[in-house]
Amino acid sequence: MKKVLVTSALPYANGPLHIGHIAGAYLPADIYTRYNRQKGVNVIHIGGTDEHGIAVTIRAEQEHVSPKEVVDHYHESIAEDFKRLKIDFDNFSRTSKPIHKKMSQDFFLKIYNRGLIEKREGEQLYCPHCKRFLADRYVEGECPYCHYENARGDQCENCGKWLEPTSLINPRCKICGTTPIVKKTSHWYFKLDKMQEQLEKWLASKNTWKSNVKSFTKGWFNEGLRPRAITRDIEWGIPVPLEEAKGKVLYVWFDAPIGYISSTIEWAEKQGKPDLWKDYWYDNDTKLVHFIGKDNIVFHAIVWPAMLMAYNDGIILPSEIPANEFLNIETKKISTSRNWAIWVHDFLDVFPPDFLRYYLAANAPENSDMDFTWKDFQAKINGELADILGNLVNRTYVFTKKYFDGKIPSPGDYDEDDRKIIKLIENAPDSVGKLLDNFHVRQATFQIMNLAREGNRYFDYKKPWNLIKSDKTKCGTTLYVLANLLNSIAILFSPILPDGMKKIKEALGNNDLHWNNAGKLSIKPGSEFGNPGILYKKIDDKTIRREEDKLMDENKTNETDMKNKEKNTEKKEYVKIDDVLKLGLKVAEILEAERVENTDKLIKMKIKIGEEERQIIAGIAMSYSPDEIIGKKIVVVSNMKPAKIRGIESNGMLLAASNGATLSLITVDREIDSGSSIK
Ligand code: 2FM
Ligand code: ZN
Repeated sequence: MKKVLVTSALPYANGPLHIGHIAGAYLPADIYTRYNRQKGVNVIHIGGTDEHGIAVTIRAEQEHVSPKEVVDHYHESIAEDFKRLKIDFDNFSRTSKPIHKKMSQDFFLKIYNRGLIEKREGEQLYCPHCKRFLADRYVEGECPYCHYENARGDQCENCGKWLEPTSLINPRCKICGTTPIVKKTSHWYFKLDKMQEQLEKWLASKNTWKSNVKSFTKGWFNEGLRPRAITRDIEWGIPVPLEEAKGKVLYVWFDAPIGYISSTIEWAEKQGKPDLWKDYWYDNDTKLVHFIGKDNIVFHAIVWPAMLMAYNDGIILPSEIPANEFLNIETKKISTSRNWAIWVHDFLDVFPPDFLRYYLAANAPENSDMDFTWKDFQAKINGELADILGNLVNRTYVFTKKYFDGKIPSPGDYDEDDRKIIKLIENAPDSVGKLLDNFHVRQATFQIMNLAREGNRYFDYKKPWNLIKSDKTKCGTTLYVLANLLNSIAILFSPILPDGMKKIKEALGNNDLHWNNAGKLSIKPGSEFGNPGILYKKIDDKTIRREEDKLMDENKTNETDMKNKEKNTEKKEYVKIDDVLKLGLKVAEILEAERVENTDKLIKMKIKIGEEERQIIAGIAMSYSPDEIIGKKIVVVSNMKPAKIRGIESNGMLLAASNGATLSLITVDREIDSGSSIK
């Protein structure tokens, strides 16, 4: 049987984990690993913390401590969060370990010696006030692609593009706000362009990959891959292993994915079999699965495979990259700087791990962004975990105890209703398994919960409280079938709800978790049905209100802080009427509108400004459907330089008001021709 090597994105050791991290990569990876293990597959889950890069040094500067102190602290805190949430790793390493430095330098040198890394003199942004080069996150500015205002130097979190700091519009130093100057410095560039053909060929064969990954990579290939700098002028990181590169370190995204390998090496060493890692990484039969969030797609589907191809020493390429979309909270994008986040450790101080696991599995952001709301969380836990699953366990136990002295009764002849449930049991491992094999955790969760729904219906219909009087054998058959249904549910739900399912298994005295047993009637008549206790306690309104208030309060304090800060540093600058007229604000009529495929926010529109027709793209799909805006007269900036958004031309910008939660188009409130100017 194939070996499976599961990895989940190495989180930056620069802050605690929030629930968005869990929904994106870690819970799906843990579920997939547990599921494969229950099937008897040779599977390992490899992880660790990503401890280099500007994400870490900025945090260190903000907290006035050393980068080492930052990563030591957050490595522990992240590992602890995973442990509490029952996200298990076979090895959880750190990229600051010597083995990782060795592997990363080896990668660099081999690729360099193959002529695929070269030194170039290039232009970099330099802050004259801080007196340093502004690598990656040290600089922010407007994204040249989607015009998001706070894009980071290396990546725009709005459109996901991998950027060069010098391409930002109106860049500013993240630390002091100064406009940087351009200075020449040498760096080492990975010749990604040379890898394009091989990469494209390889990716073309990945027909079953998720569309978000496929379309992203296609976009990159259409634009053409370019050489990218993989060294940086900072002190924190892995030194570039070349004499002439003294003082430079590897770019964090060059060393991070190598962490998957070095963590596996560490795992093998801990097993006392130092070569065991090669059984996974050098065997073409290994299925290598990288679980990531969508912001990591370019690095896992393009840069990392390109590095492996260039390294060219027989290490396997990724088999699957199931990238998830984002989790929003109460309809707003998670933002750690604005404290709009729910931290895993805070969550687990109040609720058991199964609650978060269930909610995030049932609402997994697999095909589009999903929303976490406290009210929906309460409704799902109370209505499904407690009322459907918990109730079925409880009533089956109580009736078995009362009528059959706590022993599983022997079944009599099956009638049609019994057979229907038995059929469900027999088919379940296969149908749920197929969903999990294809990373459809949400549907799998729904299907398993449906088994419990069916169980309750069967219970209600059979009425064991009447049957016990009229036909004790039939009553026994019902409870026997139900105990086996519970056993099946416990096996199938174990990867998602390890704690609760353990209680059911223990109550039924069944330790054999093998996936295929979920399709069998393996709970034998005469065996003991112990007391499972209350499986899941309901959440009361007060607790939810407290959590809602906490989220709002912390966010409010934070926003006030930020606003005050902005006020203090704001220099008042007046504009003149000419400046306003320069924008060319015009009334435009929307003639056509449609969603841009594979995006959550974008709508493509054909608009009319007087006699002229134009195409514009706007990020309003979260608030408007294409149908409802056709015919509206809106306000556009007509003198905007045309830009490409997701490869589609946008010629103008519409105006909309937003307070973060609500977005409203600016429209005109009287009948007026399109093309009318606004002044
Ligand atoms: O986005 C992040 O949090 C990165 N630290 C993920 C790295 S994944 C890998 F390549 F290590
Ligand atoms: Zn962008």
